[in-house]
Amino acid sequence: MNNIVVSLDIGSSKVCVLVAEINKKQFNVLGVGTSECKGVKKGIIVDIDSTVDAIQSAVKQAEHMSNREIKSAFVNIAGGYTTIYKNKGVIAVTREDREITSEDVARVMQAAKVYAVPADREIIDIIPEQFVVDGYGEIRDPVGMVGVRLEVDANLVVASCTTVQNIIRSVQRAGLAVDGIIVEPLGTSSVILNDDEKELGVALVDVGAETIDISVFKNGSLVLTKIIPVGGNHITNDISIVCKISSQEAEKIKRQYGTASVKMVRNDDIIKINNIAGRGEKEIHLVEIAEIIDARISEMLYLIKNELHNNNLLGSLAAGIVITGGGLFNIRGIQDVAQSYFDVPIRFGYPNYIGVANPIYSAATGIAMYALKQKRTSIVNNKKLVERGEVAADREADEKEEHRPGLMDRIREFFADFF
Ligand SMILES: Nc1ncnc2c1ncn2[C@@H]1O[C@H](COP(=O)(O)OP(=O)(O)OP(=O)(O)O)[C@@H](O)[C@H]1O
Ligand SMILES: [Mg+2]
Repeated sequence: MNNIVVSLDIGSSKVCVLVAEINKKQFNVLGVGTSECKGVKKGIIVDIDSTVDAIQSAVKQAEHMSNREIKSAFVNIAGGYTTIYKNKGVIAVTREDREITSEDVARVMQAAKVYAVPADREIIDIIPEQFVVDGYGEIRDPVGMVGVRLEVDANLVVASCTTVQNIIRSVQRAGLAVDGIIVEPLGTSSVILNDDEKELGVALVDVGAETIDISVFKNGSLVLTKIIPVGGNHITNDISIVCKISSQEAEKIKRQYGTASVKMVRNDDIIKINNIAGRGEKEIHLVEIAEIIDARISEMLYLIKNELHNNNLLGSLAAGIVITGGGLFNIRGIQDVAQSYFDVPIRFGYPNYIGVANPIYSAATGIAMYALKQKRTSIVNNKKLVERGEVAADREADEKEEHRPGLMDRIREFFADFF
């Protein structure tokens, strides 16, 4: 695998394609393309044809900007549509000198994969939490150590077969091969969170167009993923309905005048807005807009708090809550409103790279960063894709030809990155 990857974020409001590279340890965005997408509802593909059109259009833009032909991509799946199961794998170390090799690590990971998942769900990734060598735990990389018994405590990421199939189908019909399916928060967290936050306990909250994706990290691992079907588009819809204006006009007003609290606007602030279907203009008080937004934001913050509370996590988020995604980020005053609502520290995060310094690019940038960092194509998933014949033939041939060194190198690099 070279040092350039393409990521694809299929979101509820837009598809985003990003071409990125790591050059001398520096992450660079070479090209980005976005296209409005009407084929995704609440993070799930409901119309393959429109999703395919949006992917193709975003790919074209990204190709043009990066001056590279795009043949395949890593694609996201919303964290909330996956479930994490904990499982253990145990093997005996086979070498006579008892040195643990990458092959042993691959075997123990395979052993951890043996888990009875419901027939309509499949394992899409396996994330090691710790290795245990002859009873000694908290080992991040056992390769090179000496032992008789190797165990792994792993997190299995499981998703609905239909959701996964529709993602693969859409990407393939847009003419791309799937390099791997990456659980969105694992990607997003790699650009938005730092290692200390993930270790201490943090909730990453991605407020998108139609979903709030909550992911909690503790001791460096993803421990909870939940999805709430509300997002920034609900604010727009509320403005559109209450003010009786088109959703385009409502979106424009939200972006230009949106504030998170009524306290931030003066009673006599008035703006002119276009009536629906070109029926002239009318005046509206900004307080009215602020009230609409305030109500919806209060509901969103309540739902986030409730989810964390129900999972007994609110008290253990030492690093607080980090909010990203376009849904809330750009609403004026949101930082103060969110901070006064939660008792834990709140920060807003976005990818701090040229060309994508906007929270709407957090997922696409994160997937690219994660893929580049791990230098792996989700071991489990890719194997599955190859088995099903769902990766491009030339990639399959490459995999077969270089099977042993390729897979082992990837695993070695993958574990090296845990340090
Ligand atoms: N400047 C802005 N001011 C206010 N809201 C904005 C701004 N830019 C984007 N948004 C809102 O952000 C939302 C889109 O965010 P994002 O791109 O993160 O969502 P998505 O990834 O497409 O959806 P999801 O993650 O829910 O599937 C929309 O509701 C849009 O109205
Ligand atoms: Mg999103």
